[in-house]
Order: sequence, then structure tokens, then C-alpha cells
Amino acid sequence: MERTLSIIKPEAVARGLIGDIVSRFEHAGLKVVAARLTRLDKQRAEAFYEVHRERPFFNSLTDYMSTGPIFVSVLEGDGAIARNREIMGATDPAKAEAGTIRKDWGTNVEANAVHGSDASETAAAEIAFFFNADEIQSSGS
Ligand code: CDP
Ligand code: MG
Repeated sequence: MERTLSIIKPEAVARGLIGDIVSRFEHAGLKVVAARLTRLDKQRAEAFYEVHRERPFFNSLTDYMSTGPIFVSVLEGDGAIARNREIMGATDPAKAEAGTIRKDWGTNVEANAVHGSDASETAAAEIAFFFNADEIQSSGS
């Protein structure tokens, strides 16, 4: 069993897509073991995306991520990290495969509906960024 962090980004939350997107996770065999609606201020968005600080899109991305509520969740399942990346689709919605979350609901490369952890180390750090251990339900219980 593996865990990954998912974020439904501000525009997708504002458009009322939480239910549709979570449904994709569940249909893909990913179990929601923690979830919360929250909001990042600019500083916390910068901390979350620290690894991208030198990238040209950093300032715009962290502005965008602090424009409104986000839906954060921990998804659990076999190969959850890769499975989630698969159903999310490519970073740029225009390049994402048909039937992926980003193809169906992403607006552009920045407002691309969802974030998903990319490796086990980043997943662990990103989960801890949003959730305490006692807020995560083991799927066995
Ligand atoms: O989210 P993903 O792992 O697919 O892509 P990333 O390369 O880790 O980039 C993180 C986020 O930065 C993306 O999801 C986009 O929201 C944003 N981004 C952007 O605004 N412009 C780009 N050229 C690349 C990424
Ligand atoms: Mg990434």
C-alpha cells in the first residue's frame, strides 16, 4: 500500500468539481484516507512549491494557488503515486490524454485542476505538510 498527496486546485474547487474529481480517484481504486478543504496564503504556497522556486512560473503559480480554497486529500492504494499521476494526465491539459482529469477539467498549464505527488519521498513530505498522522485513517480500519 502506498500513499500520495492530492490537491484539487482553486479554480476546480470554485467550479464545483470536487465530487467529480474525487469520483475519478475512487473509480481508479484510490481510497481517500484523509481530506480537508483549506486555503494557502502566498507564503505557505511558496513553502509547498519550494522545489520550483527558481522556475519562471513560481511567482504566478504561488499567486494562483493562494487565490481560493483548495481540497487536499491523502489517497491510498497499490502504486497510488503513479496511479494518481496516470489519471491526472500531463501537466499541460492541452497535452493530456483523453479521459484524464487535466484533459477534462484543466484550464491551462497553471490552472490544471490537480496536483499529485511525484515520488515516495515527496509524497511523505507533502502529506506531512497538510496532515498530522492522527488525521489519516488507515484503510484497514
Ligand atoms: O504538477 P506536475 O507535477 O505535473 O508539474 P510540475 O512540473 O511539478 O509543476 C508544478 C505546477 O506548476 C504544475 O502543476 C502547474 O500548475 C505549474 N506549472 C506552470 O504554471 N507552468 C509550467 N510551464 C509548468 C508548471
Ligand atoms: Mg510536480
